[in-house]
Order: sequence, then C-alpha cells, then structure tokens
Amino acid sequence: MNGSTTVCAEALTRKFGDFVAVDAVSFEIHSGEIWGFLGPNGSGKSTTMRMLCGVLEPTSGRAQVLGYDVARDPEAVKLRIGYMSQGSSLWNDLTVEEHLNFYAGLFGLYGAPARAAVEEWIARIGLGERRTQVAGSLPGGFRKRLALACALLHRPQMLFLDEPTAGVDPVSRREFWDLIVSLADEGVTVMVTTHYLDEAEHCHQLAFIYGGRIIARGTPEALKHAPGSGITVEIVSKKNALLLDALEDLGYVRGASLYGSALHVTVKDDADRQELERFLAGHGVEPTDCATITPSLEDIFSDLVKTAGAPEGVAT
Ligand SMILES: Nc1ncnc2c1ncn2[C@@H]1O[C@H](COP(=O)(O)OP(=O)(O)OP(=O)(O)O)[C@@H](O)[C@H]1O
Ligand SMILES: [Mg+2]
Repeated sequence: MNGSTTVCAEALTRKFGDFVAVDAVSFEIHSGEIWGFLGPNGSGKSTTMRMLCGVLEPTSGRAQVLGYDVARDPEAVKLRIGYMSQGSSLWNDLTVEEHLNFYAGLFGLYGAPARAAVEEWIARIGLGERRTQVAGSLPGGFRKRLALACALLHRPQMLFLDEPTAGVDPVSRREFWDLIVSLADEGVTVMVTTHYLDEAEHCHQLAFIYGGRIIARGTPEALKHAPGSGITVEIVSKKNALLLDALEDLGYVRGASLYGSALHVTVKDDADRQELERFLAGHGVEPTDCATITPSLEDIFSDLVKTAGAPEGVAT
C-alpha cells in the first residue's frame, strides 16, 4: 500500500456457510479515483463493499482503507468513510433536517460546525425545498439525495456508494454524477456500484465481478480495446428482431443484442466476421448496413458474462 493508495484488498473473501460470495478479490483504489464496481445481481459487489466499510467481517484475506485494517480496526474505518448502503438507511418519521442533525452528531459535529455542514450539504445536494419533509414521504430520488448527504456530512476522504442512483430519474442521475465527479476533483476517492453502464463511463477505473471473482478490470477505454474482446458489428436493418433470434443460435456469435434501432453482434475474430457477413447477406442485409464499431461497455460485459459461463467454484 503506497501513499496514494486509499483502498487495498488482498485475497479478500467472504463465505456464507459453504457459499463463497466473494472469492479472493485483490485490487487497489488510488486517491481521487472514481472506481466503478460492476457485475450482475448477486455477483458479490455489496458484500465486498460491506467488508471494506467495516460492517461485515471477511472470512479470509485482508483489506486496508485509509491505512486502517478493516477486520482489526473497523471502528476507525467507519468513522473516516462515507457509506451509502444499497438498502435504505433512513427513518421514515424523521425530516431531512433531523436526519442531517443526527448524522452530524454521530460523526462528532456539534454547534456552529454542525449547522454549517448541514446547510452546506442541503444546498449542494438540492434538498432545500424538502428540509422539513419526513423521509417517509420523499420521492425515491430525494431519498437517495438525503442518504448521500448523510454520507458526506463529515467530509470523508473515502466514499462508498452502493447503487446510489438505482430508481433515480435521468436528470437527477446526471446531477448525482456531476457531484461525484466534482468530489473526486476535490480529492475524494469514490468506490461506486451501478447497473447503469452509461454511468460506468464516468469512472476512472472499472472492475467487473462475476460469481464472486473479478474477471476484468481497467479503464473504460482499455476494456473496450482489450485483446480478446472480439469484434463488434453494428447492423441496421428492419428485420433486427428476427435476425436476433437467428444469430443467437449461431455457435460463432459470442453476443447479440438490440441497441436502440441497431443490432450489436460480437464475434471472436476476422474469420468469424466474414462468416457473419455471409450469413447476413443470405438474410438480405446489405454490406452497407453493417459496420465494425468500438463496442459499448454493455457489449463488453454481456460478452464477458457469456464467455465466463455459469459461475464456477462458488460452493465449496
Ligand atoms: N447475509 C447473507 N447470507 C447469505 N447469503 C448472502 C448474504 N448476503 C449476501 N449473500 C449472497 O451473496 C451473494 C452476493 O450478494 P451481494 O449482495 O454481494 O451481490 P450484489 O453483486 O451486490 O448484487 P446486486 O446487484 O443484486 O445488489 C448473493 O448470492 C447473495 O444472496
Ligand atoms: Mg448489491
């Protein structure tokens, strides 16, 4: 762990009974980085994050956050980080202001510094008009804003956000990400999980977890151009839905999905691309309707899931 490393996980593992939810993951997150953690439902994202936040004990392996060992010193970790958990951590009967005052006290802020922090985050996160409303009657997006404000009150240098934008409308999602990016610019390190792959484009680094194991990592650009990531062909045709059914049955097609009005098909190499072109010509698709494109993260990750197959080794 060097000076700029904020999070360091080494073979971090968590079992629930015989089930291995997180299987020896190792990674580092550097200061000021937005580190995106992606993976299908149940792949181990929240479990990993909970271990790093000191709220769930690892079964084996180790991790340090801001220089503190998460297993030996979980309280020191909890005091110094901001954590927005996936489930709601709000009390329905408390107002926005009451939540923020409570969290200020929890982190040892009282009097004028507490009032200043509460006002700062109410303004910065856009909660001003809702300050006297109880959390139970807030729309979903505002509940998320409040949870984020609670996590930020004590100005943590490390922020863990577990699906902060799930169920949030597109405009509010953009505002969330503007804030996350500006926090990172201010030096805050952010680990964030999301199922929205457009959001993953904002991350400096990405890791993809599947069946408890990290199976790909890198910058969004590096992942799109990684050797072995195959060739993605975009097809624009009026018969996309019919073609999709037929393409999914072809052995050499690694992934096929509708993408707006286009169809994205991933194949292994040039020989398979030529095979694909012959197949498409036989189905009345003109060569001018096909183009090789840089794959989207969605293409990359659906391809990864398909090539990884069923998660293996999760039960011991
Ligand atoms: N307390 C627990 N007891 C038993 N199994 C658990 C427990 N917590 C999580 N699991 C299991 O561990 C696996 C990983 O769960 P986790 O919540 O980390 O997934 P996730 O990647 O965050 O999924 P999602 O995208 O749905 O939030 C799942 O199979 C889950 O059912
Ligand atoms: Mg989760």
